[in-house]
Parts: sequence; C-alpha cells; structure tokens
Amino acid sequence: MLSVRALTREFGGVRALDGVDLSVAPGEQLCIIGPNGCGKTTLFNVITAQLPPTRGEVMFGGRALTGLAPHQIARLGIARKFQVPSVFEDLTVTENLEVARFGLPAQAEVPDLPALLRQIQLAERAQVQAGHLPHGARQWLEIGMLLAQAPQLLLLDEPTAGMTGAETLATAALVRRLAQEAGTAVVVVEHDMRFVQALDARVVVMLAGRVVADGRFDEIRRLPQVRDAYLGAHA
Ligand SMILES: Nc1ncnc2c1ncn2[C@@H]1O[C@H](COP(=O)(O)OP(=O)(O)OP(=O)(O)O)[C@@H](O)[C@H]1O
Ligand SMILES: [Mg+2]
Repeated sequence: MLSVRALTREFGGVRALDGVDLSVAPGEQLCIIGPNGCGKTTLFNVITAQLPPTRGEVMFGGRALTGLAPHQIARLGIARKFQVPSVFEDLTVTENLEVARFGLPAQAEVPDLPALLRQIQLAERAQVQAGHLPHGARQWLEIGMLLAQAPQLLLLDEPTAGMTGAETLATAALVRRLAQEAGTAVVVVEHDMRFVQALDARVVVMLAGRVVADGRFDEIRRLPQVRDAYLGAHA
C-alpha cells in the first residue's frame, strides 16, 4: 500500500534520509525505532509532504505522491498525528469526534461513534470534557479524531511520550485493535521499548538516515548491531 523508494532528504550537509526503502501492507502494524536524529520524523515529513524529498519517491495505493500537497495526501487516506495534541478542550469526547467527522463527503464510509469510542477505549468517558482527560486519554482522543476520517494508514510519532506505563501498554492494545477491527495500517515511531515489545509487530531500525534492520520484534531484538546501537540495557 505504502512504498518508499530510495528516499533521500538532505538539509545542507546533513543527510537526514539516505536511500530509505520501506513498504507497508494494508492493515499492517510497524514500529520504527532508532536513536535521536536518525531521520524518523523526517521520514514522516516527506511521506506527508511537509518536506519534499531530495531524491527518491513515495508511492501510495500504486500512485506517486510527488508534487501533492499535505491536504491532498490526507484525502488519499494517510492520517498523521503530531506530537502536540490538538483536541477541543471545552468539548466532550463525543463532540470532538463529531467535529472530526464534520465535512466528510456524505457517502464516505465513516466509522460509527460507538465503535470509534470503543476502539480508542473512551466509551465510558464519552461525555467527559476533553480538557478534563488525563494525558494518555487525550492522545487516544486525538487518534480517534484521525480515525473518524477512516484513513487507510495512520502515522504516529512517539504517541506514548509522557504516558504512564499502564497508558503505554493500553496504547499498544489500541493500535492492535485498529488493525484487527478497522483494517487500518499503523506506522509508529517509538522510543519506549515497553510499547514496542507489547505491540510485538514488525520493527524497522533506522540509523543515520538508513534502514539497518527490518523484521519481527523477536528477531530484531537479537541482532547485535541493534542491541549495541539502540536497545542497550532494554535488550
Ligand atoms: N527542518 C530541518 N532543517 C534542518 N535540519 C533538519 C530539519 N529536520 C531535521 N533535521 C536534521 O535531520 C536529522 C534527522 O532529524 P529527525 O528529526 O528526522 O530525527 P528523529 O529520528 O525524528 O529524532 P528524534 O528521535 O529526536 O525525534 C537531524 O540531524 C536533524 O537535525
Ligand atoms: Mg522525531
């Protein structure tokens, strides 16, 4: 579904992405890990056209995204969560989801609210004001607002930053449920190894702008270059 080919992005002398090849299948879950500055956020920025690539291309559903604007890419079915949550604090959870669905074409196949609330594990807090939600639940609501648009692919950049251990594990469960129930593919950039372990999915390891390993979590964690370069004491 998503296919990134020979993607390179330079900033002056810095090669933030250096010939990245990566494919994501429909409904697949994938974690991208790697040390600070290895190019993870830049990869998302190029996929969603916040930044043009220096070389290489991004294909989605068989078409090249070259030259499209971010909103056009969103309309094709790629939703992205940024690190700063942007929920409407004065509105309830349900109202936030309704706002997010507003403006979709009438014929669009949007998930119904009860299903959405269940997916983001906020069914019991549907009438709570978003401003009163704890940090983790706010992040889930923001994911719900993206899901309200029924994307085929969801990109999450460090969604568990600032979460408690319990919230982090609940977020891994949420991502798994998305693939199972809605068939949504999810690519998650994540530093928290508790999340990566709990998701137990495919893991791509980046180092200095390159993909250095790509496999199941169980295989990846055993690679010496991965242990040394990134996993450290966690492995
Ligand atoms: N807009 C920009 N202008 C100049 N340099 C940039 C820009 N964006 C990223 N870089 C550089 O590109 C490299 C990759 O940065 P990027 O933010 O993609 O890393 P990251 O893997 O997301 O790191 P982190 O784990 O800290 O979020 C870094 O050297 C960074 O300084
Ligand atoms: Mg980043």
